Amino acid sequence: MEELLARLADTPLADWMRLSRWGYAGVNALHVLGIALLVGAIVPLDLRLLGWRRRLSLKTLGQALQPVAVTGLLLALGTGALLFLADPTGYAATPLFLLKLALIGLAIANALALNLGPGLAGAAPRRLRLAGALSLGLWIAALMSGRFLAFV
Ligand code: HEM
Repeated sequence: MEELLARLADTPLADWMRLSRWGYAGVNALHVLGIALLVGAIVPLDLRLLGWRRRLSLKTLGQALQPVAVTGLLLALGTGALLFLADPTGYAATPLFLLKLALIGLAIANALALNLGPGLAGAAPRRLRLAGALSLGLWIAALMSGRFLAFV
């Protein structure tokens, strides 16, 4: 594992991430844009799952917000991988970073379990509330751990 991390750190892309000041800043800004799209779309959907504004159609809200959330997630994952390249060994040895990855994995699993299982339209209200509460907690915890990484 250590060898793989050292090899990753030795790639031209990793050098570019470390040495190009505006490259790193640009990727970081796109990471924040991805997070904004993801969290900005997922929070209103989660609140609706928890019962907020229940007169709004869940199907319509899902059709509008889920593609935005998925686009944001893909952008955050791609740019996150590039940020990681700047110091693979350091991040892999940081428990907060590993916690953040675990939270992201759990949040994605929660979303997949609902969408590949009963779906927004077919799930019972209790199931929807559980998925909404988990999603809200996990994505906000992932965001906070990502921001705190700069300070540890
Ligand atoms: C596998 C996917 C991801 C990886 C590998 C990743 C990796 C990283 C890395 C290496 C940093 C720089 C940390 C530092 O300052 O040293 C970072 C920043 C950050 N990440 Fe991620 N990230 C991923 C996805 C996400 C997601 C989905 C979220 C939000 C839900 C998120 C939230 C943040 C935040 C808030 C920051 C701080 C940005 C700033 O203030 O400059 N990350 N990420």
